[in-house]
Amino acid sequence: MSSVGTISRVAGPFLIARGMGGSRMYELVKVGEVGLIGEIVRLDGERAAIQAYEETVGIKPGEKVVGTGKPLSVELGPGLIGQIYDGIQRPLSVIQDMIGPRIRRGVTPPALDRKKKWVFHPEAKKKAKLLSGDTIGIVQETPLVKHLILVPPSIRDGTIESIAPEGEYSLTDPIAEIRTVNSLEKLYLTHTWPVRQPRPYKTMLPTDVPLLTGQRIIDAFFPPAKGGTATIPGGFGAGKTVMLQSLAQWADADIVILVGCGERGNEMADVIEKFPRLKDHRSGRLLMDRTTIVANTSDMPIAAREASIYTAITLAEYYRDMGYDVAVMADSTSRWAEALREISGRLEEMPGEEGYPAYLASRLAEFYARAGRVTTQGREKRQGSVTAIGAVSPPGGDFSEPVTGHTLRLTRVFWALDFALAHRRHFPAINWFMSYSEYMRSFESWYENVGTDWPRLREEAMSLLKEEEELKEVVSLVGAEILGDKQRCVFEAAKMLKEYFLLQNAFHPVDMFCPINKTYHMLRLILEFYEKAKQAVGLNIPLTQVLSLGVREDLARMKIVRSEEFEKASKEITRKMNEQFQQLTRAAEGESI
Ligand SMILES: Nc1ncnc2c1ncn2[C@@H]1O[C@H](COP(=O)(O)OP(=O)(O)OP(=O)(O)O)[C@@H](O)[C@H]1O
Ligand SMILES: [Mg+2]
Repeated sequence: MSSVGTISRVAGPFLIARGMGGSRMYELVKVGEVGLIGEIVRLDGERAAIQAYEETVGIKPGEKVVGTGKPLSVELGPGLIGQIYDGIQRPLSVIQDMIGPRIRRGVTPPALDRKKKWVFHPEAKKKAKLLSGDTIGIVQETPLVKHLILVPPSIRDGTIESIAPEGEYSLTDPIAEIRTVNSLEKLYLTHTWPVRQPRPYKTMLPTDVPLLTGQRIIDAFFPPAKGGTATIPGGFGAGKTVMLQSLAQWADADIVILVGCGERGNEMADVIEKFPRLKDHRSGRLLMDRTTIVANTSDMPIAAREASIYTAITLAEYYRDMGYDVAVMADSTSRWAEALREISGRLEEMPGEEGYPAYLASRLAEFYARAGRVTTQGREKRQGSVTAIGAVSPPGGDFSEPVTGHTLRLTRVFWALDFALAHRRHFPAINWFMSYSEYMRSFESWYENVGTDWPRLREEAMSLLKEEEELKEVVSLVGAEILGDKQRCVFEAAKMLKEYFLLQNAFHPVDMFCPINKTYHMLRLILEFYEKAKQAVGLNIPLTQVLSLGVREDLARMKIVRSEEFEKASKEITRKMNEQFQQLTRAAEGESI
């Protein structure tokens, strides 16, 4: 039975209601005469603290609060892809019509269009015994997404009593009937799921497959895993949004769920305006054909922002269950944490570090713990994954603040954006000394299939950058004059590694994406040049002569050689490099005779 209580206090989007004894935590309630949507966020006996997802202006103590008996849930089914939702899955286009003069509070627009008809191809046969997660049929949701209609998790098993023939159906038309132990249930193209509850799967798989991103510094040094977690903290303008957009476009995920938690106007403008125009270069279509956006602007109630990351990860799990690799990207989780802080403050909870509630870490954990690569429920043994990537915007770029600190403990890849690099316009501004991927070890064999010497190359590149850093310190103490050609060679090689390899322009039509083979060969060729340069300098050949070799020009241009032409170009560079270094050595030997 749903409880009916009475409002005793209203504080902005937060309310206290009495007489809510029969309710449960996170139960949805209808508040006041207009029936605003709210959620119970604290329950002490019959006293409930409620966060309202809508403007509470005009709501007064004494008005009633009615429990719905249901937790905050999302509607899952065809039509999710391409949508822009708010944090509690209200379509943004519909809400925009609702605010302003035509304000209609208490009206919950359906998340999925009831009128739209979808072509359903039945797969299950009449009298078939199906388990939760088995396929009932298929809907082509967008040109890029084949949407499997599965037996929902709420039904453990049953026998198909009837199934609709191929045809067009709306979300309210039953498409099958299934007999379970105690009832005959109608199945639809859609079902609902509570956002704060992870969706079930059969087994968790190891995170030993990299999620390639087409971004050289990430793929070569700090790769995330399919089903893994990653964080990208960076101060204002350090390149978080551009990186998440590059990842959305190029990471080898099938589906992208983007969470935009914006405070400042420009952050939201980036997401809502720019994102829907991005192209999916692989298919030639729009990225929105395989993307859903969950957006929160600053004019929306903050409670919806708090819910948004759970809404997003639930959508991701839903597509994971169909066997897709899904990437959830949240930009930025700091704005989400600020919502949490504000809610906690209004509830007069004891503030923890920097005013954030003590449960900040556990709430973040509830989000990241839902990432994973799994075998899905059902007999079809599909594999799918949810990768969770969160941007963090620490005030002043200070990584020791609580949101960055907790996120770092919860995630296994850290791309540290460095203001100094961004300031020098070295993009992506990922600091190669601070960043890490804890998955690297489990990817070794994967990488060795691309090139057996990957581990060695990676190590050599890192030690070159370290050596340069150490030399820089020496130079700052005693001046550059004391450097011999051997040390100068380190500087020049490190510069080549940075400029020709690590620097990657997210806006250049070719450079924006670098396939893994190209990344490997680019790194190999630059380090080969360094090796040969060291040898030449060892033979007392002046470094200036090494640096004036024509092949350096080819190395500089590698990044803009189109990937289909790269194999040929790479062979040609190897040939030129050998030839030019040989000439140099021969000339030096000739001179010394
Ligand atoms: N990979 C890149 N290639 C080229 N330019 C880049 C790249 N990354 C970032 N930039 C430049 O830096 C600018 C700021 O980047 P971005 O908007 O991603 O920063 P942000 O960290 O999201 O900032 P905010 O804190 O305002 O959200 C971009 O407009 C772009 O000019
Ligand atoms: Mg941004």
